[in-house]
Amino acid sequence: MTLKKSTIFDKKADIIFFNGDVNDLLKEIPDEFIQLIVTSPPYNLGKEYEEKTDIQTYLSQQEEIITKCVRTLKPEGSICWQVGNYVENGEIIPLDIALFPIFSKLNLHLRNRIVWHYGHGLHATNRFSGRYEVILWFTKTDNYVFNLDPIRIPQKYPQKKYYKGPKKGQLSGNPLGKNPSDVWNIPNVKSNHVEKTKHPCQFPVELIERLVLSMSNENEWVFDPFMGVASTAIASLLHNRRAIGAEIIKDYVQVGWERIKQAEKGQLRIRPMDRPVYNPEKPNVYIPPKKVTIDSDSDISQARLFEKGENYQKDQKYEDNL
Ligand SMILES: C[S@@+](CC[C@H](N)C(=O)[O-])C[C@H]1O[C@@H](n2cnc3c(N)ncnc32)[C@H](O)[C@@H]1O
Repeated sequence: MTLKKSTIFDKKADIIFFNGDVNDLLKEIPDEFIQLIVTSPPYNLGKEYEEKTDIQTYLSQQEEIITKCVRTLKPEGSICWQVGNYVENGEIIPLDIALFPIFSKLNLHLRNRIVWHYGHGLHATNRFSGRYEVILWFTKTDNYVFNLDPIRIPQKYPQKKYYKGPKKGQLSGNPLGKNPSDVWNIPNVKSNHVEKTKHPCQFPVELIERLVLSMSNENEWVFDPFMGVASTAIASLLHNRRAIGAEIIKDYVQVGWERIKQAEKGQLRIRPMDRPVYNPEKPNVYIPPKKVTIDSDSDISQARLFEKGENYQKDQKYEDNL
């Protein structure tokens, strides 16, 4: 079964990639429609896709978009804003600190400030080289989705047992694994990364898989307002969520559709979530890139078919060439 694709807002679609300003897409999204918003906005660094402005102008533009995004979020929903530093004359402004008051004013609840650590980047000469960025995870209410089991990681000592007390002899850790904590060591997408495209700063898919699995359920909508080459969408569709995003640069949207096409053919290669980070002192067993597919006959796809009713066959030809 082919997933239904659209280039404009359509409640019946599985994938919506809007080529244009996110403010225009936001006008079409109903209130409380989205379960999870995950994005990495422009950092105002003067990259090829952004015009550098003063920090106050940047923050008020962000505030406008964040406010509109929050309107679209379900009460059980989450919003994850992934940011690094704004740099001027060698001085840094951590954007999570600058953006926090915007979310706070909107009465959102900060659940974690996740530190995303990676091993590669520019080598600074007048300060320490930056090797982390931050994901601010907010929920809309206190009644929010958080699924820990699908994202557990292996225990350090899986065989460790209680040595006294009523549980003596039983495993002391959860056999499903442990909570991955709020510091994540995940390689960033540099030139030798299996997922690298022409985009200068794309998300590694595994970073977003962890957010998608823990903060949404199957068939729900995941929205990336600044979607780039659709990494959030890929992570979402791999786990049977629906994906919506906006991207102002046509070329990136096109790469996004190409990646979807590859995934539908089972040919998209991603770095697997369970592959350990390379450590030259302790080389591990090599886990190769994984070829993934989003076109499935899973139960959820069948459920979607059912939901779409008898018009589905007719609709299926819609934008078939994407
Ligand atoms: C940091 S990148 C996101 C990359 C993305 N996470 C990925 O994995 O490819 C930010 C993206 O936002 C896009 N962008 C900037 N302003 C926009 C706007 N007003 N509406 C939609 N997209 C915008 C840029 O072109 C850029 O590709």
